[in-house]
Amino acid sequence: MIGLLESLARPLLRMLDAEDAHRLAINALKIPPFVKLVGEDARLAVRAFGLNFPNPVGMGAGFDKHAEVPDALLRLGFGFVEVGTVTPLPQSGNPRPRVFRLDHDEGVINRLGFNSEGAAAVLRRLAARAEKGGIVGVNIGANKDSTDRIGDYVRLIETFAPVASYFSVNISSPNTPGLRDLQQGQMLDDLLGRIVDARTRVSREAGTTPVLIKIAPDLALGDLDDIVAAARRHRVDGMIVGNTTVARPQALRDSATAREAGGLSGRPLFALATRVLAETYVRVEGAFPLVGVGGIDSGETALAKIRAGACLIELYSALVFHGLRLVAAIKSELSEVLRREGGTMDELVGTDAAAITAQPWPI
Ligand SMILES: Cc1cc2nc3c(=O)[nH]c(=O)nc-3n(C[C@H](O)[C@H](O)[C@H](O)COP(=O)(O)O)c2cc1C
Repeated sequence: MIGLLESLARPLLRMLDAEDAHRLAINALKIPPFVKLVGEDARLAVRAFGLNFPNPVGMGAGFDKHAEVPDALLRLGFGFVEVGTVTPLPQSGNPRPRVFRLDHDEGVINRLGFNSEGAAAVLRRLAARAEKGGIVGVNIGANKDSTDRIGDYVRLIETFAPVASYFSVNISSPNTPGLRDLQQGQMLDDLLGRIVDARTRVSREAGTTPVLIKIAPDLALGDLDDIVAAARRHRVDGMIVGNTTVARPQALRDSATAREAGGLSGRPLFALATRVLAETYVRVEGAFPLVGVGGIDSGETALAKIRAGACLIELYSALVFHGLRLVAAIKSELSEVLRREGGTMDELVGTDAAAITAQPWPI
């Protein structure tokens, strides 16, 4: 049923502005008959940062920014859903149009700029579904006009700790000027110190919510050394690698759209994001788990992320081109690999990381 409706709807959705199509998809997910429960292969279960994931395939941040449909997504088969980015105060983001499809490249460029309904609205929704279970992470970001960006992250940790399964600290969006500076030096040290403190302060009432940092794929390797060292020093629970890229691979076919400002995601991001994931994995030395994101569009690319060092994966852009059925397809391909090769998901994690880091840098 979902497949049929999707095949009918997709050509029409393609005619719409990308952001209008996204709004339609969110509204469709609010209608119960579209959503069915799916069975789960026990071999796909993953335990990471104290949480039991029914499968490793997560919905990436940015699809459900305001936590409108996390339960529909979980019922469709995602192992977890990352809502947000949420900012403390509501803000409208950049002027439209601000999301662009690169149809030939199966990529997306967005410069949304953290359009958020704000913490109060998102908290209300998450509190109303808190008893339902399922892993719902909250991706947090600073308001554009904030005079104390680190203070924004601290407030959001305090606010959402009772309802968040984990936090994704987004310091890697390219669309809020200066935000990526938080990935560096003293700023990063202050940020990590204060957010880990905040998490500990509220843990008596809220439990110890895992804190992950989400990084950019555009980091120089020297900066990555520093980030991993700081993350290990502050004992963060994991890293998400990573966000969209400001780079534009030369081979892009939609060359006019590629000139739009913003972060590029989807298939053209895969090689770069997977390389940075492997580079992160070899630096982390097992100190904490990694979530691999960027360009996953099949069982094969999902498996490549896992072999590059991810114990969990997330996707977004490929859903625009392949629809929500992709989630079930990826899971069944992963199941098939485990059945064929024997062993567990854990044993696959990072097996190719060292080899990937020895290859020429992807362009
Ligand atoms: C339209 C759009 C909006 C996004 N919004 C966010 C966001 O609010 N916060 C965030 O951390 N990442 C955001 N992302 C990045 C994704 O979560 C993901 O890191 C990136 O798109 C790479 O994965 P993909 O190639 O599977 O899309 C957004 C991506 C897209 C395409």
